[in-house]
Amino acid sequence: MVIPPRLPPSRESFGQRGRCVRGCHSVGWCSGPLDGGRDAGRPAGQGAGRGRGVWLGSGVRVGPGGVGVERDGMRVGVIGVGRIGGFHARALSGIAAVERVVVADVDRGRAEEFARAAGVAAVGLDEVFAAVDAVVIAAPTSAHVELLRAAADAKLPILCEKPIALDPIVAREAVAYVEARGAGLQVGFQRRFDPMYVAARAAVEAGALGTLTRVHAVSVDRRPPPAAFVPTSGGIYRDTHIHDFDIVPWVTGVPIVEVTAIGANRGAAVFREHDDVDVSAVLFRLADGTLGTAHAGRRHEPGYDVRLELAGTAGTHACGGVTEGDFLTRFGDAYRAELAAFVAMAAGRIAGPCSGADALAAQAVAEACVVSRREGRTVRVG
Ligand SMILES: NC(=O)c1ccc[n+]([C@@H]2O[C@H](COP(=O)([O-])OP(=O)(O)OC[C@H]3O[C@@H](n4cnc5c(N)ncnc54)[C@H](O)[C@@H]3O)[C@@H](O)[C@H]2O)c1
Repeated sequence: MVIPPRLPPSRESFGQRGRCVRGCHSVGWCSGPLDGGRDAGRPAGQGAGRGRGVWLGSGVRVGPGGVGVERDGMRVGVIGVGRIGGFHARALSGIAAVERVVVADVDRGRAEEFARAAGVAAVGLDEVFAAVDAVVIAAPTSAHVELLRAAADAKLPILCEKPIALDPIVAREAVAYVEARGAGLQVGFQRRFDPMYVAARAAVEAGALGTLTRVHAVSVDRRPPPAAFVPTSGGIYRDTHIHDFDIVPWVTGVPIVEVTAIGANRGAAVFREHDDVDVSAVLFRLADGTLGTAHAGRRHEPGYDVRLELAGTAGTHACGGVTEGDFLTRFGDAYRAELAAFVAMAAGRIAGPCSGADALAAQAVAEACVVSRREGRTVRVG
C-alpha cells in the first residue's frame, strides 16, 4: 500500500478503525503546512510539504509523487510497556495504517509477556530502532532523553510522552538534538485531541465569549499513582499541572506569563517524603491580562475530575466534571486520536500537532510554579 501525500484524515487512511478524527481536524490542529522543524536539513525538492523536503524514516519513501510507506503499512515501535505504553501499543494495533506494532522494554520479560497478551511483537531495546518506521517513547521520564537521541539518530519520527525531561535545560537540548537531525517530534499532550477541549477552543475562536477575562482548570486524579512513580514524576506541577499549562494556552491562544503556586499535603505520605504535594492551586495570568486558576489533586475517590471553565465579556463556557475510571478511561479516545495524528505525521500527511517547542513552553510554566511554591512568591514565566 502506498499512502498518498497530505490527505485530510479519514477512517480509511489513518484514523482508528471505526473512528474518525475529524473532530480535532475541524479546529485546525492539523491543517497547516508541514512544520519547519521536521523539514530542516532535508534536500530541496523532496517530500510533500508544499515543495519542502520531508524525511520519514526507514521504509518510508519520499519521491516526486509524494510520500508513501514502502510496505503494506507502517511499523510502529513502543518503548516501555507500563501504564501508558501498554495502552499506546494496544491502541496502535487498532489504527488502520499501522501494519505492525513492536514493543521493547528494559524488562525484556515484561515486553514479551505484554506482546503475547496484546498480539504484538517484542524485540530487544537494541533492536527496536532498526525494526520500525516510527517510535513512541513511553518509558519513565528519566529515560526519555537517551531514547530520543537514539530515535533521532535512527531518523525516526517520534512521539515522546510528556515531560521530555524533568530538567528544562536538558529538555531544550534534547529538542534541539532531535530537530538538528530532522526527525519529526510530537509530545504527548493528549488533551489537544479531546472533544471537550476542542469545543472550548472553538468557542474562543468563534468569539462566543467576547473578551476573555477568566479561566479555571481542574485536574484531579481518582487515585494516587504507584508510590514508586512519585519520585520520578517531578512533582505535581511538572506531572499533572503540565497538562493544564499546555491546554490553557492552546484553548485560549494566549501564553501563561505569570504564576503563583501553592500546595498542601492532605493524603499519602509519599508525596511529602519527596518534597511534593498532593493538592495544589496555581493562580496565573495570561499575556493578554486574562486571569486564571488551576487546581490539581491526587485523590478523589468518586472519579477523575477534569474541568475547564472560560468566561468573557459576552459569555461563559464550562465543561468537564467527574468521570468514573482514571486518565486512561477519561482520555482513552483522546490518546487514540493523538496516536492516529502521530501516524499521520510520521507518514508526512500533517504537521506535528504538538511540537517540542509547545512542550518546552508548558514546561517553563511548570518550572515557574516549582520556584513559586518553594520561594512563596509570584514568578514570571521564562
Ligand atoms: N500523557 C499522559 O497523560 C501520561 C500519562 C501517564 C504517564 N505519562 C508519561 O509516560 C511515561 C511513562 O509513565 P508510566 O506511568 O507508563 O510508567 P510505568 O512505570 O508504568 O511504565 C514504564 C515502563 O518503562 C519500562 N522502562 C523503564 N526504563 C526503561 C528504559 N530505559 N527503556 C525502556 N523501557 C524502560 C519499565 O519497565 C515499564 O514497563 C512518563 O514519562 C509519564 O510522565 C504520560
